Amino acid sequence: MSAVLLVDDSEINLAVYRGALHGFDDVEREATTSPLDALRRMRTRHYDLVVVDHHMPQMTGLDFIREAREIDGSTLMIMITADGDVDVRRRALELGATDFLTKPIDRAEFIARVRNLLSLSVSRREIADRAERLHEEVQDATRLLREREIETIVRLTRAAEFRDSVTGLHVIRVGEMCAALARTIGLPEQECEELLLAAPMHDIGKVATPDHILLKPGRLTADEFEIMKEHAATGYAILDGSTSPMLKTAAVIALNHHERWDGTGYPNHLPGPEIPLVARLCAAIDVFDALTSVRPYKKAWNTDAAIAELDANAGTHFDPDVIAVFHDAATEIDDIRRRFSADPGAGTVHRAM
Ligand SMILES: [Fe+2]
Ligand SMILES: [Fe+2]
Repeated sequence: MSAVLLVDDSEINLAVYRGALHGFDDVEREATTSPLDALRRMRTRHYDLVVVDHHMPQMTGLDFIREAREIDGSTLMIMITADGDVDVRRRALELGATDFLTKPIDRAEFIARVRNLLSLSVSRREIADRAERLHEEVQDATRLLREREIETIVRLTRAAEFRDSVTGLHVIRVGEMCAALARTIGLPEQECEELLLAAPMHDIGKVATPDHILLKPGRLTADEFEIMKEHAATGYAILDGSTSPMLKTAAVIALNHHERWDGTGYPNHLPGPEIPLVARLCAAIDVFDALTSVRPYKKAWNTDAAIAELDANAGTHFDPDVIAVFHDAATEIDDIRRRFSADPGAGTVHRAM
């Protein structure tokens, strides 16, 4: 169904137009002698075609077209002018008129023009609908891909948990806390979202750490510790080379989460500012969460004591700026700790080192 609005101050002209449209099926006709009333109607619904007279006492056709274009950019408009109004026609075109008819109206020409413009309007609408459908399909497909990417990552992270039974809620908390800290710093929302899933993979390289080291309840020997340290480079090797921004971030975190601000960390002994920011965030959060969790060899520290420990190591282990922001995010981080706190903590030793 198409809709046509006829605007002419003369009732007689309106009757003529309406009569000419008599043979049109599937067309809704509205008519008004007031251009202001016509503009009001255009604000409440879309018309495929507006036929407007130029010479009207309330408002000229040109002024009408200017305002009508602001209301509805896609309506087609025919302006009716007196013969010889060349300037008016040029102005009307500039303002957005689609076509013209000259008074006195030739009925056959009027019918032909209206028919042409209505079919143009219908095909325009079809093209717009198709574009809209395509856009929605692309969005759906993108959402699906993203969901699958997230699922793959979550499953990869879960695979690592089977090796290190303490990691379950720990890795979820690390993701949530890193995202909260990143938000407080003011990183773009997309990067915060990436951290939510990337940070939990920080220890994924431990899938390659031998059981007798990973699960050893006591202290590691120097040699064993060297092998343990390989989990950073192994994690990077597992995650590196992806085009997924999330996996790229995860690779950077896996490699660098044991670097220290004073350059004594591993594997590359990077001096503070050269450690990627996401890894500096994860380093502080990883230690904070280990401190505030129960471990077979220690009780859970309270939040204040854990933050005091971060403060004591700001500038040596941790980026002092990150620790400063940690204070601003402390309430939120503590909330996350409580929300995901069913961690039994028992079982194997989680080494935050
Ligand atoms: Fe680690
Ligand atoms: Fe960890």
